[in-house]
Amino acid sequence: MCGIVGYVGPRSAQDVVVDGLRRLEYRGYDSAGIALVGEGDEVVVAKKAGKLANLEKVLADEPVEVAHTGIGHTRWATHGPPNDPNAHPHRGCASRVAVVHNGIIENFADLRARLEADDHVLVSETDTETVAHLLEMQVASGEDLTVAMQRVCQMLDGAFTLVAVDAEDPDRVVAARRNSPLVVGVGEGEMFLGSDVAAFIEHTREALELGQDQVVTLTREGVEVTDFAGRPAEATRYHVDWDLSAAEKDGHDWFMRKEIFEQPRAVADSLLGRRTREGLLQLDEMRLSDDEVRSIDKIIIIAAGTSFYAGLVAKYAIEHWCRVPVEVELSSEFRYRDPILDYSTLVVAISQSGETADTLQAIRHARAQRSKVLAICNTNGSTIPRESDAVIYTHAGPEIGVASTKGFLTQLVACYLLALYVAQVKGTRFGDEIAEILQQLEAMPDHIQSVLDGAEQVYDLARQHVDTKSVLFLGRHAGYPVALEGALKLKEIAYLHAEGFAAGELKHGPIALIEQDLPVLCVVPPRGRDQLHEKMLSGIQEVRARGARTICLAEAGDERIRPYADELVALPQVPVLLQPLVSVVPLQLFACELATALGHDVDQPRNLAKSVTVE
Ligand code: M6R
Repeated sequence: MCGIVGYVGPRSAQDVVVDGLRRLEYRGYDSAGIALVGEGDEVVVAKKAGKLANLEKVLADEPVEVAHTGIGHTRWATHGPPNDPNAHPHRGCASRVAVVHNGIIENFADLRARLEADDHVLVSETDTETVAHLLEMQVASGEDLTVAMQRVCQMLDGAFTLVAVDAEDPDRVVAARRNSPLVVGVGEGEMFLGSDVAAFIEHTREALELGQDQVVTLTREGVEVTDFAGRPAEATRYHVDWDLSAAEKDGHDWFMRKEIFEQPRAVADSLLGRRTREGLLQLDEMRLSDDEVRSIDKIIIIAAGTSFYAGLVAKYAIEHWCRVPVEVELSSEFRYRDPILDYSTLVVAISQSGETADTLQAIRHARAQRSKVLAICNTNGSTIPRESDAVIYTHAGPEIGVASTKGFLTQLVACYLLALYVAQVKGTRFGDEIAEILQQLEAMPDHIQSVLDGAEQVYDLARQHVDTKSVLFLGRHAGYPVALEGALKLKEIAYLHAEGFAAGELKHGPIALIEQDLPVLCVVPPRGRDQLHEKMLSGIQEVRARGARTICLAEAGDERIRPYADELVALPQVPVLLQPLVSVVPLQLFACELATALGHDVDQPRNLAKSVTVE
């Protein structure tokens, strides 16, 4: 939610900052802006509502003087509509200080009233502008920008990443973070800041992970980190294990499509190195002792959106393999229901970005109740794994399309691994059973590839539905969350009414929605579970009898389904619990192609942002 970039060094700051914003645009695209510090005694600002392309046009029409220090912002609007005045950066009255911000300053109304009472003129409706005025007051009184930032942060409530520059101190960029992401890129004679490493990955792969409530000062020579009180603080240095090519489209029209096709590799990478020489499952980032794992008597999974659906799949696997009860809860709801937690409850937080504010607040609540928290996360150095007792990293590589795809599949892999690990430690499955499931998991990249090889059939189907106003998805058992995920994909990128249902629940109400030719995508369980398969067939017959057009995803060779399927998409034969890894793929392809045919921006759907860092 909002992308932030900062730079100090020998290059053109405009070029570095605008390139960084391009890579972060997926975090928000309501407006974009930059502030540059040059020779003059005012910070130069260019900003424009709408996508980054609008700002680039402004900069091409009215070029600004070359500068070597700058900051930039791409916005997902919270306070005030997405127009030019509300675009970041914001400046104080004298235009000496400019600031960009991600997050929400909860006490901004009080701060604003106090500033206005002191004759400050604020020109936007944002919470951020108050910070620019406060910083400017501090530097005008003789403090340097670092001290100014430390003091101002102590006045703020809420979540924020702030990055500021001062026209009278042109070789310094100062930033602060509380509950909102920020990483430093360490170069040779130059330093970078970004909401994530994608902002500077083409210049350096050396990064610093900042802690909570820290202020960082960047100059060409180095980086200094303090807490808000000005005491020296530590930041953790790490090497980013992917490069620029991972953050580019690689010949695809959309990042989303590229990421769908990367799934065999992403799943394989997420499985790598998980077995000891003796064949035992090992999760080396799991910092829970065997005794702690044995004492778990309940698991609560918390997550949002697609990650929540991964959690729903995990429930089937964990309960079946480990015989431990599992609750799955939306993180935004979790703390408000006063959940029953104690030291024997394991809370599993699933988050691709590792920054989702609802999930972060939920894990803080869980830890305050003495529960252990295990994070499943794709983003090294992000806040959620840092604040958890244990972490299983997924190895999807950067996910840039707003609609999660490879993030979801690799979360599923991590959930299966967690379930098997708990089963191994608790002894609820024999070693050979675990080894067999691991082998089945290791075969999944090839199965996913075979689904991708059939993409053209799904694309044809999608293109036949450009005039469709509504699509339903049906599933049972582990296929139910897949139906929910298929519907979410369609809603978020094709802007269609789409709903996923548990097939058995249809006759309790939703079947009234069925009308002539309504497309219903049905996720058919493998035949190994005869009861499940039979029940699903009944559900399909019921909707078809009422005029629905059924598009069935069923395993190859499933002849029983043929008479009831208007369209049949063949899936590889895999075990029922692992089927989501293959059955969701046609649904991702369907949504991507339909949104493309409808002329939508698939990677940057309206009103959304990739990582939701406000509650
Ligand atoms: O980064 P997270 O996994 O915590 O994000 C959770 C959701 O915001 C995310 O899955 C969202 O629903 C995606 N846009 C779905 O495609």
